[in-house]
Amino acid sequence: MTKRIVALAGDGIGPEIMTSALEILAVASKGKFAYEVVSFPFGGAAIEQVGIPLPQETLMACQQADAILLGAIGGPRWEGVKETPESGLLALRQALKLYANLRPTKMQTFLEEKSPLKADKVRGTDFVIVRELIGGLYFGQPKYYDSDEAIDTMNYTRKQIEQIVRLAFELALTRRQKLTSVDKANVLANSKLWRQIVQEVSEEYPSVEVEHIYVDAAAMKLMMAAPTFDVIVTENLFGDILSDQASVITGSLGLLASASLSIDGPALYEPIHGSAPDIAGLNIANPVSMILSVCMMLRQSFQQIALADQIETATYETIAATGGTRDLGGQLMTSEFKQELIKRLE
Ligand code: NAD
Ligand code: IPM
Ligand code: MN
Repeated sequence: MTKRIVALAGDGIGPEIMTSALEILAVASKGKFAYEVVSFPFGGAAIEQVGIPLPQETLMACQQADAILLGAIGGPRWEGVKETPESGLLALRQALKLYANLRPTKMQTFLEEKSPLKADKVRGTDFVIVRELIGGLYFGQPKYYDSDEAIDTMNYTRKQIEQIVRLAFELALTRRQKLTSVDKANVLANSKLWRQIVQEVSEEYPSVEVEHIYVDAAAMKLMMAAPTFDVIVTENLFGDILSDQASVITGSLGLLASASLSIDGPALYEPIHGSAPDIAGLNIANPVSMILSVCMMLRQSFQQIALADQIETATYETIAATGGTRDLGGQLMTSEFKQELIKRLE
């Protein structure tokens, strides 16, 4: 059966990296994996076309897809509009019940020289941040601001926490059996409940070593002792911040991919970074984050493990052989990197 992939290229560098990643998928999958890609407007691009960031047709197409690829959304042009591209992204995550956002950071030996951190501090790093994606401060009500006061609400239910924590334990079982739960239980009520539930659920997973760490200390330890982490589970905002920080380890935000898993529907795959308005349209964005998001899709949604491995290996070989794009200190334009990678695949 031909798989149906919905592509939401979005804004800024979104379309540039999406085009590269889809071309690479087309070359690599020939004769191995049958799929069709259908593109829909989303984010700022959709605001320009139809006035809102998440049009009904886009949402429906996503709901009926086998998997969704998202480039990135947002930009200065849409700051302060009534319905922002970011609000469209949050609405999409909520509508698709994308509760678990998996953000892996895996060090490659040839990337050690690209990292601003010392090689012996990052060598062997291989962890996944499991970020809760549809709760916490992003969605809690009430939420408003006027010129005198602003309110955001942080709330989590037992059910929400149990769901994400269980997924993290299951993931740890398939890896090095270590789970780090990141919270702020010395201050936040939400974190007190979070820590209690992690403790309870841990009894179902006696083989998994569990550690609890405060988010401030976690930020430090990510830079000082990255290789000691395996699975990191945390709430929405902490996971957002720590995952951008994690990109320092491998040397560029343009390398990190993610998978957002749904409670009962298709998964969505996207880079962890944004639309990079500062470099949009210059053909210098690093498409690797999008290419590795495609690899996560091939593994997670389509069980195309060999194909994903092939693309991932060729991607890393291309960076190692060419130096990659400018964010990595290399010379290649986005389209040149794509061409080099395609040569390797052919
Ligand atoms: P950003 O992640 O877009 O960019 C941060 C820095 O990293 C910039 O200097 C950018 O040039 C660089 N960068 C990011 N991706 C890169 C890549 N692939 N190759 C090379 N360099 C790369 O964050 P920002 O500037 O804070 O946000 C810009 C816009 O993106 C905002 O509107 C924000 O809301 C939005 N955003 C969207 C998403 C998403 O679509 N999931 C995620 C984060 C931010
Ligand atoms: C991300 C982004 C989004 C988030 C924004 C654009 C809403 O930063 O995907 O990491 O905070 O989740
Ligand atoms: Mn973010």
